[in-house]
Amino acid sequence: MIKAIRIHETGGPDVMKLEDIDLPDPAPSFARVKHTAIGLNFIDTYHRSGLYPVPLPSGIGLEAAGVVEAIGDGVTAVKVGDRVAYGSGPLGAYAQAQNCYAASLIKLPDTIKDDEAAALMMKGLTARYLFKETYKLKKGDTALFHAAAGGVGLVACQWAKELGVTLIGTVGSEEKAKLARDHGCAHVINYSTENVAERVMEITDGKKVPVVYDGVGKDTFEMSLDCLQPRGLLASFGNASGPVSGVDLSILAAKGSLYVTRPTMIHYMMTPEEVATATSDLFDVVARGAVKVDINQRYALGDVAQAHRDLEGRKTTGATIIEP
Ligand SMILES: NC(=O)c1ccc[n+]([C@@H]2O[C@H](COP(=O)([O-])OP(=O)(O)OC[C@H]3O[C@@H](n4cnc5c(N)ncnc54)[C@H](OP(=O)(O)O)[C@@H]3O)[C@@H](O)[C@H]2O)c1
Repeated sequence: MIKAIRIHETGGPDVMKLEDIDLPDPAPSFARVKHTAIGLNFIDTYHRSGLYPVPLPSGIGLEAAGVVEAIGDGVTAVKVGDRVAYGSGPLGAYAQAQNCYAASLIKLPDTIKDDEAAALMMKGLTARYLFKETYKLKKGDTALFHAAAGGVGLVACQWAKELGVTLIGTVGSEEKAKLARDHGCAHVINYSTENVAERVMEITDGKKVPVVYDGVGKDTFEMSLDCLQPRGLLASFGNASGPVSGVDLSILAAKGSLYVTRPTMIHYMMTPEEVATATSDLFDVVARGAVKVDINQRYALGDVAQAHRDLEGRKTTGATIIEP
């Protein structure tokens, strides 16, 4: 028996229940990972609330690190005792252990601690694909990034600096503004008190930016378009304030023949080669100290409801770890 969080219905944080469940021996091609650290991500709240429907009942959580405890028939990718992590499922990371498709596990180098991996696999790989694939940032570029003191945000601030990019970050409080600045964000705008489009115009001498990375969604969609140069790209990669819907495409013409994409990590990590390139890139910036992992909150597995309340209540900064 192991302890695991299960949801039998969608709704608020209290639908997550800590239960004792049987974890069967791993099937062929699967490995059982005993978790040492679990990552909290905003997407977990979408699964819990029903915004992203999942078949119920279900486990929850997509990111964890730990040790391979058992392997099924035919597994060669990992062996018992390997330190591994995953950042895009399977659903059920909020548990003391889970069985994962062995070939999708990432072996951890000695330079990455378990809790750093659990904090970084989804957030770090997201910042990477946004900056290196969705819109390929170059040294000297300027970009706008919303929620710059969040989990993906603090990685993004540091990675942008490493790339020689002038990052303009938005945040919801003065404390978060300081945090973003301390992590390399060149200009920070408090979007609860300042007009973002006007400030972006000032900072860029009227040029605006070629790309906006927007994980806030509904509340920032139009503001993001207003910050873009003609033919600029909005990478709308999340819904922290609610999903963007019902868009009249003519708004893109009116605001400058703009492009919009709604990317998700899985479509940037579709082959073993893409996964290997992305993870070695991430581990490299961490090993060199260019991106440091900020674990600013920790919760016990039984306290995940509070973790969700704090994340959705904009009380967290950087990454959050759940301790199995
Ligand atoms: N598409 C992908 O591949 C992918 C992968 C990973 C994450 N994501 C997305 O990236 C975003 C950031 O994820 P994260 O896990 O790192 O979360 P996070 O940034 O740590 O937390 C969300 C932040 O959004 C801001 N926010 C603005 N309006 C909000 C509202 N109404 N309710 C709650 N938060 C609000 C808050 O910062 P302020 O107080 O500073 O405004 C909050 O701290 C999420 O939208 C997530 O879904 C997408």
